[in-house]
Amino acid sequence: DPPLRDLAAAKGVYIGNAVAGGKLSGNAQYAALAGGQFNSLTPENAMKWGSVEATRGSFNWAEADQIVAFAQAHNQQVRGHTLVWHSQNPSWLTNGGFGATELRGILQQHIATEVGRYQGKIYAWDVLNELFNEDGTFRSSPWYGTLGAGFVADSLTWAHQADPAAKLYINDYNVEGLGTKSDALYNLVRSLKAQGAPIDGVGFQAHFVLGQVPSTLQANLQRFADLGVDVAVTELDVRMQTPATEAKLAQQATDYGTVVKACLAVARCKGVTGWDISDADSWVPDVFSGYGAATLYDQNYQPKPAVRAVVTAL
Ligand code: XIL
Repeated sequence: DPPLRDLAAAKGVYIGNAVAGGKLSGNAQYAALAGGQFNSLTPENAMKWGSVEATRGSFNWAEADQIVAFAQAHNQQVRGHTLVWHSQNPSWLTNGGFGATELRGILQQHIATEVGRYQGKIYAWDVLNELFNEDGTFRSSPWYGTLGAGFVADSLTWAHQADPAAKLYINDYNVEGLGTKSDALYNLVRSLKAQGAPIDGVGFQAHFVLGQVPSTLQANLQRFADLGVDVAVTELDVRMQTPATEAKLAQQATDYGTVVKACLAVARCKGVTGWDISDADSWVPDVFSGYGAATLYDQNYQPKPAVRAVVTAL
């Protein structure tokens, strides 16, 4: 088969994956797939606040720079991930007890610094990640708790000032189908658009369980697109209870194909990003006990049936 990235490009979408710098330089099979099959990369952890500024005022851009350089060398786009989140923040920030004025300044400076550093090199930023609880209320976070909901529009505005060409996204999970949480995100995006906030896109993480791709995925992507924003599948994986069997891998192939077809059917769906290159790299077994085998490539970096399904869908 031709590389996935060539098939995707021919359809006017990108196909991406999440990467770690150490593996790009230290694992030849990983690097060959990352550079050869995908035309968009998302740093899996390297651009998170806790990674870039573990100590206040002392920055470590090494891994993020490495991934951006790898992407440029391989003619790939980069999705910046992520600027404002409740998780993977440095402890100086989480435990700092900052009041509203100071916290707002810290957030503004973080966004200006990070977006400014990569200005012109990032296709799209996940400016805001995982804003909502399952019931559609705002998740508690330092941002919401101290600054109130205005941090959302403010963060977008600051990111836009630092890189006017970057597409600015809000990203979340369990919002892929129609439902309470996705309604909350929809209402937020609608109100941001009405206010004139610089919101360009919505990212649907798509961490799915085998056989449970929502039947309303395409309709949901379309309703967001109809608000006048781009949409993308940003962190696709399909986990199963291990061990994998032939039947489970066949269902997984169907699921991956369903997602790619849904994106292609929505004009404003820009691309699909997988979350981790191979089953050896996946975050799933660490977080979902008893589950694994969630990616396109197996533990030995060999294509699974899902790769064929993606090829066919593209
Ligand atoms: C995960 C990474 O894959 C892990 O390596 C890390 O330990 C925790 O974060 N939603 C997101 C991603 O937006 O940033 C998360 O990535 C997976 C869930």
